[in-house]
Amino acid sequence: MSRPTIRDFHDDDLDGVVRLYEDAAHGSSRPVYALSEVIASCREDHAVVAVDGELIVGAAVGRAAHAQGWIVFFALAEDAAGTELGAGLLDKLEHRMAPLGLGKLSILVPEDADRLEGLTANGFEVRNHLRYLERQMPVQRRELDLLAEVGGRILPRNLWTRVSGMRHEKELLEERLVTPLSRPDLAERFGVVPPSAVMLFGPPGTGKTTFARAVASRLDWPFVELFPSRLSDTPGGLAAALRASFEVVGHLEHAVVFIDEVEEIASRRGGIPPSPTQGVTNELLKLVADFGENSGRLLICATNFVRALDSAFLRHGRFDYVIPIGLPDPEARQAIWRRYMPASVVDSIDIGALVAASDGFTPADIEYAARKASQEALARALRSGNDPAPGDELTTEDYLAALAGTRATVSAGTVAEFLEDITTIARL
Ligand SMILES: Nc1ncnc2c1ncn2[C@@H]1O[C@H](COP(=O)(O)OP(=O)(O)OP(=O)(O)O)[C@@H](O)[C@H]1O
Ligand SMILES: [Mg+2]
Repeated sequence: MSRPTIRDFHDDDLDGVVRLYEDAAHGSSRPVYALSEVIASCREDHAVVAVDGELIVGAAVGRAAHAQGWIVFFALAEDAAGTELGAGLLDKLEHRMAPLGLGKLSILVPEDADRLEGLTANGFEVRNHLRYLERQMPVQRRELDLLAEVGGRILPRNLWTRVSGMRHEKELLEERLVTPLSRPDLAERFGVVPPSAVMLFGPPGTGKTTFARAVASRLDWPFVELFPSRLSDTPGGLAAALRASFEVVGHLEHAVVFIDEVEEIASRRGGIPPSPTQGVTNELLKLVADFGENSGRLLICATNFVRALDSAFLRHGRFDYVIPIGLPDPEARQAIWRRYMPASVVDSIDIGALVAASDGFTPADIEYAARKASQEALARALRSGNDPAPGDELTTEDYLAALAGTRATVSAGTVAEFLEDITTIARL
């Protein structure tokens, strides 16, 4: 082998650099920077290559951000002369980047890399006690505009764990939605088809919106809520606006699309003259059916009046599941009470009594009662002019009194209807 020359990268060298990258990628660990990033840096940042005749036998590629530079790719061909060539490439790259006035130049190498001498000879020091972590960002750059167009966003990651109790519902959503969607390979092994559309139903305030958001958070997919009331203001009307929004969502790699109170646009058709929403209902039926043809996206609709929906919506093939979200179970009520209590009083409150007394109340009702108890207790303390000792701010009686003054949103009649809907309409 003749002595390779080291020079700046030219566009024609790209094939050779890609080949080096692929060889490196076949080794024991995948390079940190994706090939597309390395190519982008070759073109737009700083890159030098070692050339032997026609052949690219080494490359060093760097980029800078403020005062720190990163070597995003550094490789020598298997049979290229070791340390000296590596040192030459690094020298040349540093020379190119010198005008940037970098304070530090860094490189990540695989744990078992055996060619560190080239780096250490050039003044790089191994920094121990560092671990490398990475996170796949859920939205790619090209999707940002699309997402903005439909008002979609990435939700915080912890919404799923913040849904307290409701173990039965959570298990169901985890098994039916989250796992098949996030692990399609596993689903396929079991012959499970990941869902594309689900309907959540239940009395008002039981957590349907909360669950829809929690599912998006758990999947780490963008959440796109469509508001029929807002879309209907657009020129062309609601049906066209819905179609346009679904079209945009179709260009996203992943998304959870949420339509709340869907009965407003999907109620039973028929009647003479036809109701004004009939065209919208037809459009939505079509959109839901088409939506199922692409994977990686989930439509969640929610309704308080599942029995008012057009029967075509509930037929098999449109929504994969029709899932009831009921009133909070004791465990959920306990967690919700605790959430709205000041930490100082939690230990002195008989939470069991509150859980029992709040059977039939929604999470929103409990939140309301808990806040009311806090306000009343504060007002009482102010009136009396005494600052209670820490832990004495609120008592069980305060909470029970506030609860007694809170009207349950969901009446016994609604509960009975809901139970009936579970047997006649739910599909799990
Ligand atoms: N399991 C839960 N744990 C804690 N808080 C909850 C839970 N479920 C619901 N909440 C809280 O209760 C309130 C009402 O929930 P949400 O808005 O999700 O209900 P909904 O069923 O969508 O209501 P609506 O029928 O009015 O649309 C929210 O403040 C939510 O944070
Ligand atoms: Mg809601």
